[in-house]
Amino acid sequence: MKDLAAAVLSLAFIGLVWLLLAGYQSGSKKQPVAYNHKKHIALGLECAGCHTGIADGKARGGLPTVEVCAACHTSDDENPRAKAVRDYVSANKPIPWKKVYNVPTHVYFSHRRHVGLAKLDCALCHGDMSKVEAPVTRQAVTISMARCMGCHHRMKVTNDCLACHK
Ligand code: HEC
Ligand code: HEC
Ligand code: HEC
Ligand code: HEC
Ligand code: HEC
Repeated sequence: MKDLAAAVLSLAFIGLVWLLLAGYQSGSKKQPVAYNHKKHIALGLECAGCHTGIADGKARGGLPTVEVCAACHTSDDENPRAKAVRDYVSANKPIPWKKVYNVPTHVYFSHRRHVGLAKLDCALCHGDMSKVEAPVTRQAVTISMARCMGCHHRMKVTNDCLACHK
């Protein structure tokens, strides 16, 4: 009897965890291709080689274009796990990545300032991508006003409201 009760309880527990995880998943953004940062970074590719908009200092548009993938995922590529990306490449269709890191439109943020001028490591704001094996569906380092201001305070950068809110 005791064993049965324990089994029922643990099943209920597993069910609850499953429901919580499913709810959490649906709140995140599913990406169109099962992209793997760890494998590509291990090939020696630079962040800015794929995220070209970042190097150009554009505030938005840093997600890779299909041309970047086409350099390697040609029709000669036989990796079955890369079929989804080859389909976009052969159709020459943009891959509809969903942007996960966003600031509201009333906030001004530029990578040029932070990466180009201040030479900050990407990992400070995005975590260690060389360990990430699944597509990005949620922020590893949450964007918040407190975090922006905390770093500005430490690094003696302005915290004038109008620097970030224009
Ligand atoms: C000081 C913090 C910070 C650093 C350092 C930083 N980022 Fe970001 N990143 C952000 C924020 C904030 C956003 C959201 C920007 C927006 O919505 O306009 C973002 C957005 C992005 C995006 C989504 C696409 C886009 O253009 O908005 C990519 C990709 C990205 N960052 C890659 C990088 C890479 C690669 C580096 C290093 C070369 C880097 N970031 C360094 C804070 C940072
Ligand atoms: C410099 C060449 C190169 C570029 C550029 C490149 N890839 Fe890859 N990709 C590879 C190689 C090599 C593998 C096989 C890696 C392995 O199995 O360790 C791979 C594997 C993959 C896989 C299968 C992942 C897995 O788990 O096995 C996907 C999906 C993929 N790439 C998507 C992309 C996308 C999307 C782009 C463009 C943003 C891209 N790749 C750009 C070389 C490249
Ligand atoms: C071979 C190309 C490639 C390389 C190299 C690469 N990335 Fe990415 N990155 C992608 C692709 C494709 C996505 C969109 C799919 C995903 O989210 O995994 C992405 C998504 C991201 C995002 C999520 C942006 C958002 O708002 O959705 C961040 C942050 C990021 N990359 C940072 C980095 C950093 C930091 C490096 C270097 C350490 C790096 N990436 C190297 C292709 C690349
Ligand atoms: C890890 C530290 C760090 C974080 C996090 C950070 N910043 Fe910065 N920020 C800096 C540094 C350092 C500079 C100075 C860059 C330079 O040399 O011009 C800067 C400069 C700026 C400037 C230009 C300020 C001026 O002088 O007019 C703006 C705007 C800005 N950041 C906005 C943001 C926003 C918005 C966020 C959060 C989404 C953020 N920053 C998060 C370190 C950070
Ligand atoms: C270093 C950049 C930075 C500075 C300085 C800054 N903010 Fe913000 N602020 C942000 C970011 C980023 C957000 C969006 C945060 C989020 O989405 O959670 C934000 C959001 C807000 C919001 C909206 C809050 C909400 O819940 O949507 C208000 C209001 C605001 N800030 C007021 C101010 C005032 C007043 C000051 C000056 C005392 C200030 N901010 C200084 C970066 C900054």
